[in-house]
Amino acid sequence: MAWRDVMCGELRAHDADRRVTVAGWTDTRRDHGGLVFVDLRDHTGKLQLVINPECSPAAAQIAHEIRNEFVLQATGEVAARAPEAINPELPTGQVEVQVDELRIVSRSTPLPFQLDEENVDETLRLRYRWLDMRTERMQRNLRLNHTAITAIRNVMDERDFVDVWTPSMTRGTPEGARDFLLPVRLQPGKFFALAQSPQLFKQLCMVGGIDRYYQIATCWRDEDLRADRQFEFRQLDLEMAFVEREDVLDVMEACVVGAFEAAGVEPPQRPFPHLSYADAMLRYGSDKPDLRFEMEIQEATEVTRDSEFGVFKNAACVRYLVVPRTFSRSEQTRLEEIAKEWGAKGLANLAQVSKFLSERELEAFGVPEGSTALFVADEEPVVAHVLGLLRVHLARELDLIDAGRDVFHWILDFPLFEHSEEFGGWTFMHHPFTATVAGEEGQIEADSANVHGQHYDLIWNGWELGSGSIRIHEAEVQQAVFRVMGMDEDEQRDKFGFLLDALQMGPPPHGGFAMGIDRFIALLAREPDIRQVTAFPKIASGADPLTGAPTAYPDSALRELGIRLTDPQPE
Ligand code: AMO
Ligand code: AMP
Repeated sequence: MAWRDVMCGELRAHDADRRVTVAGWTDTRRDHGGLVFVDLRDHTGKLQLVINPECSPAAAQIAHEIRNEFVLQATGEVAARAPEAINPELPTGQVEVQVDELRIVSRSTPLPFQLDEENVDETLRLRYRWLDMRTERMQRNLRLNHTAITAIRNVMDERDFVDVWTPSMTRGTPEGARDFLLPVRLQPGKFFALAQSPQLFKQLCMVGGIDRYYQIATCWRDEDLRADRQFEFRQLDLEMAFVEREDVLDVMEACVVGAFEAAGVEPPQRPFPHLSYADAMLRYGSDKPDLRFEMEIQEATEVTRDSEFGVFKNAACVRYLVVPRTFSRSEQTRLEEIAKEWGAKGLANLAQVSKFLSERELEAFGVPEGSTALFVADEEPVVAHVLGLLRVHLARELDLIDAGRDVFHWILDFPLFEHSEEFGGWTFMHHPFTATVAGEEGQIEADSANVHGQHYDLIWNGWELGSGSIRIHEAEVQQAVFRVMGMDEDEQRDKFGFLLDALQMGPPPHGGFAMGIDRFIALLAREPDIRQVTAFPKIASGADPLTGAPTAYPDSALRELGIRLTDPQPE
């Protein structure tokens, strides 16, 4: 006999009198008036079983042993419930199964938490993830992953993209994070890096004539974990030959819309709006601004150039935010403390400093009744950074964000390089393979500060969903970028010799993109972090509470890999 011939959530009134076999998990058991009621559950829903000792004494005997999460198989007739017993909350609420054969298929020890319990500690949920997965929330999220990825694969397939598998074990890939290293027994002292992305392999696929590559690729990055970051995560990774920026954006937008439609969510309007990097930094103080609310940063540097107020007069940059609220003295002090934590020297409230300002300045600021203007004066990057964070902080605090809106947009025209405090020189803004805006190749070394990259980021409600660029396809240009980053010929050959060789053997012009799948699904599922849409994620400490990994290994195992620990192994 089959384990089941219908799923729990499928039965409806018109199934009355049908004889069925169902199987699933015990959601609850209630005993009432000599009868035993069991809510049996699978991923399709819940179904009420009734076990009546008068009709089936053997089943009733077994029913008394049932506890939550026992797996049962039950056979019986579907019966319409009496009107007063109908449960309008359940799709199967008009019927029940009157069980005459019952089997306990497997048992459960007492549960570490109840499935319907709220606020269960996350580490406990992850330790027993198989239980957590039975909840409606996790079922919905994991299935949404599947739905969205299937839709994306369909879009890719319709557009002639080819799924090519690329290695995880490779050389270090410069995506800005640390590499995870993998020791190699056959070559003691040498290491593979786990790919931070398939970046160079997908470019080599273009040189290899694949034309349109894609992959749902797992990537590994050793960085601190946050709501939107895991050590291992997935990218929708794609690359196209003989394309312009607009072709890449078009494919990405089609993927987003395809996934929304498959998930039954109203898709965003295409084309997604464009915003230049410079504009985003000026108006929102961020390269991933949340555009669900206005509250734009205002420029005041010119107006305050000759200010009587020394703080403004002496600053390289002065900007402000107009917030639709007034603040008490203690609220203002608290905001100022926060701004200082972010790096500001102070946070001036117009009302408090207006006595130092001229008519011309006050007129320029024009703050409506009931609003407050908050100023930061400093070097330009500090002003942008602090006001950008303050903008989001206040919008959340004042409840200005419409959570029902989905705002997608592109950030474009990034600088190719940014100054790195760490290296004391120039480093890439996206990655070193990004092409300049057409015609600016000559500026790479001549004017590194002002050369623009053909780099684009996709932003959804203030999250960076993905990045891409048109790539360099000329070896000399690639070498110029490496030189700006401080790499001499030897280092270039050592690290990227294979790429430089490929770029000398007929590379087509190409460009591509990678979207963080986990971030995309989390936002689509309206979840606050990617752990909720990942089957088996790690917690912030970097550990996996389920398996207990990472673990220590005995010295003998390490010796084989040519590794000796300098510190004794932790217990
Ligand atoms: P980038 O490094 O911007 O670009 O990564 C692309 C997207 O991957 C996601 N992502 C992450 N998701 C979860 N956890 C992480 N630790 C994590 N790190 C990144 C983000 C991010 O926007 N090779 C280039 C793309 C290209 O140029 O084609 C790249 O990897 O959503
Ligand atoms: P002070 O002159 O330090 O007493 O500051 C007078 C006011 O200006 C206070 O409200 C400070 O928070 C504010 N302030 C000081 N430095 C800055 C700055 N760099 N940017 C904005 N406001 C500042």
